[in-house]
Amino acid sequence: PKVYEYKFHLSKIELAPDGFKKLVSAVNGQYPGPPIQVCKGDRVIVHVENCLGEPTSMHWHGIFQYNTPWYDGVVGQTQHVIPDKCTFTYDFKVDHQSGSYWYHSHHRGQYMDGVLGPLIVYDDDDFDKKTYGYDEDMIVLITDWYHDHSANLFKWYMSPESKGAEPVPDNALINGKNNYNCDWAPKGSECVCDSELAKFVFKKDCKYRMRIINTSGLSSFTFSIDDHDMKVIEVEGAKTKPYKIKQLSLSVAQRYSVIVDANQPCSNYWMRIKFQKSYHHHKLAMDNKAIISYEGASHEYPTSSPCTDKVEKYLEFYLKPLVPCVPPKCDKLLVFDVEFKKDSKGITRSYVNGSSYIADEEYPTLKKVYDGVHEFSRCENIYQLHKKGEVIDVVFINKDYREHPFHLHGHSFWILGWGKDDGKFESWYKKLNTFDPIQRDTSTLPEYGWIWLRFTADNPGIWGCHCHIEWHLGAGLLVQFLELPKDLKEMEAPKSWWDLFPK
Ligand code: C2O
Repeated sequence: PKVYEYKFHLSKIELAPDGFKKLVSAVNGQYPGPPIQVCKGDRVIVHVENCLGEPTSMHWHGIFQYNTPWYDGVVGQTQHVIPDKCTFTYDFKVDHQSGSYWYHSHHRGQYMDGVLGPLIVYDDDDFDKKTYGYDEDMIVLITDWYHDHSANLFKWYMSPESKGAEPVPDNALINGKNNYNCDWAPKGSECVCDSELAKFVFKKDCKYRMRIINTSGLSSFTFSIDDHDMKVIEVEGAKTKPYKIKQLSLSVAQRYSVIVDANQPCSNYWMRIKFQKSYHHHKLAMDNKAIISYEGASHEYPTSSPCTDKVEKYLEFYLKPLVPCVPPKCDKLLVFDVEFKKDSKGITRSYVNGSSYIADEEYPTLKKVYDGVHEFSRCENIYQLHKKGEVIDVVFINKDYREHPFHLHGHSFWILGWGKDDGKFESWYKKLNTFDPIQRDTSTLPEYGWIWLRFTADNPGIWGCHCHIEWHLGAGLLVQFLELPKDLKEMEAPKSWWDLFPK
């Protein structure tokens, strides 16, 4: 194993990823942030130097943080904020996992302003290359993009005025690039039309592994490459039996690896990401593009046309793991109702079993555990898991008209089933796949539907489980699992962690 050390300098700078100038919260002066690329078993050290002019934190999405629960980077849960002008060092190992992950700020809506980047863990023995046969690895970061600052948008969203409708993005980006029709930009803003698109170069007859990572704040996308099939081989760290598709659906925070065979005539082709929800917003292109260019092709824009096949939204129920490994029975069942409603001030908030999460930023849960606090306030949405090795089933039932991509920290979960909420809980249970479900860390709860997840309580820590739509998270759609509190209390957080707290 190696040690990889990174320095992340966070600051606000003017960038124009799509030609529209915005004050971006950048990592090392760039958007997206630099990739972390390590191997299974390596140690990752990241010095986060905060010069944003506001507090921050960094989360390593999908990394389990075995033995280092204090480095999960969640304000209000696992750490105090990193104040402005301060540096905090994260130091963790990526044991027992490899695949496509990402890092992002876990403080308010900050990652939508730019504090994010890819985190790739290669398998130690090149197992993947041998099993799936590919020549090169490529990262494709896709995202929706707001031209306004997230704090302004949040203010509006969390006011009666929004009626709970999320701010509509202005654009979508592929690897931090796209163009924008500047006629749509407000007067007085700086905007350049025909900003450059992202470009991926293919060598004829080579095979590419593309790691597609949806880092959106709100949007699900359909990803495709004109005239090229894809084979899914990885879902968020879980290797799958190759599964051929033409279009790939990704909810917020989801990732897939696909193999793309450069077997078409030497030319240029569009890569497309399509917003799945139509926002009825005239200032938004629904289909957004990058260029796939075969080596030796002309410099003309592609003229290829999109695939029109049906998109399979819940791919996880078609994918099969390379090696099935699900525990056959659960020991503990938790059922969570999800709904949105107005509070007494007319602000739309989200509720899990009737309680809307409010982060205790000054006094994070982990500190409470160290202080011996046993009673938590209702709005912290804390659920305790005391028994090591216990198999936990979590069922989310959605009373809302929108889908919600739920992410669990500290684990991958098996997805045993999903469906429409017909109220027949017993029959859902009977239909569960307890034989060969796949594992992932972010799965979509369908509108007016249910989803059944399973994981093993084997990782002491405080693990958030939340809707990854930043607006909904901000409105309270989160529960915390306080897992193995006794073991956790005995694990000693480093001095630098304690130093983040004001004296
Ligand atoms: Cu990607 Cu709670 O995070």
